[in-house]
Amino acid sequence: MDKIHTPVLLKESIDSLNIQPDGFYIDCTLGDGGHSIEILKKLSPEGLLLSIDHDQHAIDFVKEYYQEEVEQENWIVKRGNFKNIKELTKEINRKPLGILMDLGLSSRQLEESHQRGFSYNESDEPLDMRMDETLGVTASDLLKALPEKELAYLFWTYGEERYSKPIAREIKENISDIKTVGDLTRLVYKVVPVNSNKNPSRRVFQALRIVVNDELNNLEIGLDNSFEILQEGGRISVISFHSLEDRIVKNYFLEKQGSGEGEMLFKSQIAPTDDEKKHNPRSASAKLRTLIKTKKN
Ligand SMILES: C[S@@+](CC[C@H](N)C(=O)[O-])C[C@H]1O[C@@H](n2cnc3c(N)ncnc32)[C@H](O)[C@@H]1O
Repeated sequence: MDKIHTPVLLKESIDSLNIQPDGFYIDCTLGDGGHSIEILKKLSPEGLLLSIDHDQHAIDFVKEYYQEEVEQENWIVKRGNFKNIKELTKEINRKPLGILMDLGLSSRQLEESHQRGFSYNESDEPLDMRMDETLGVTASDLLKALPEKELAYLFWTYGEERYSKPIAREIKENISDIKTVGDLTRLVYKVVPVNSNKNPSRRVFQALRIVVNDELNNLEIGLDNSFEILQEGGRISVISFHSLEDRIVKNYFLEKQGSGEGEMLFKSQIAPTDDEKKHNPRSASAKLRTLIKTKKN
């Protein structure tokens, strides 16, 4: 992949954090570093940025691509899962003023996956889908281990796939032949009627990826732990890409607003402009929400 990942809602998300040059900020989802580098540009030498990613390949890429910046004392790049944000910041004697989460996969993970099969276009790759390769269970393990009913539930719940039952049946009947991304997508093509130019496997891939990486639990735990360590007056901004993620973010922010602990910066979510969607189609479903931790009197 020659290009780097194009950061989504870049100006909107950076503005939403209201960056103070001397503050401490956390980018929970480093990816190719697009949001991190913009935060870093706004910090003084007294400011501090911690960038986290659970994918070692993302950490390696950024350390090489931004070698000079990473050597600066006010940028710490660390491997870890953002659900463990409290442990990851334990040695830093400061409270963050802003925390950013840009959820899901980067373009690099889709296009240069290191044989992990995140994209339904990479027919020859194995069905792995672990962003963090220290995790024990791959997508292929799930297909083998789960009974038909549970697979159908998974595709329905995490992919909102209408054909979840026939897909699960077809998978279990042909399980010994399913080794690669192509084996799975060919099978889905047999079951799901193709009535748009979108790939019919996209919902199944989304569901498997969410479960393999425990994405929704990470988000719930990560939000709560982030809010706990945030300075009063500090902000959490989250960019989500599908309704399951957005629902969790919206409900959490509403709950904090309801209890008087937080206040939402925008009345509803911020979406990309038509221009951004045209130049970066991957941004099309993005939504940005920001919560301000209410100051105690
Ligand atoms: C959409 S990309 C971020 C792109 C980045 N903002 C940029 O501009 O290049 C999401 C990144 O978050 C990472 N990620 C997803 N869930 C995570 C989690 N629970 N903990 C740490 N990193 C996570 C992924 O590995 C991926 O690299």
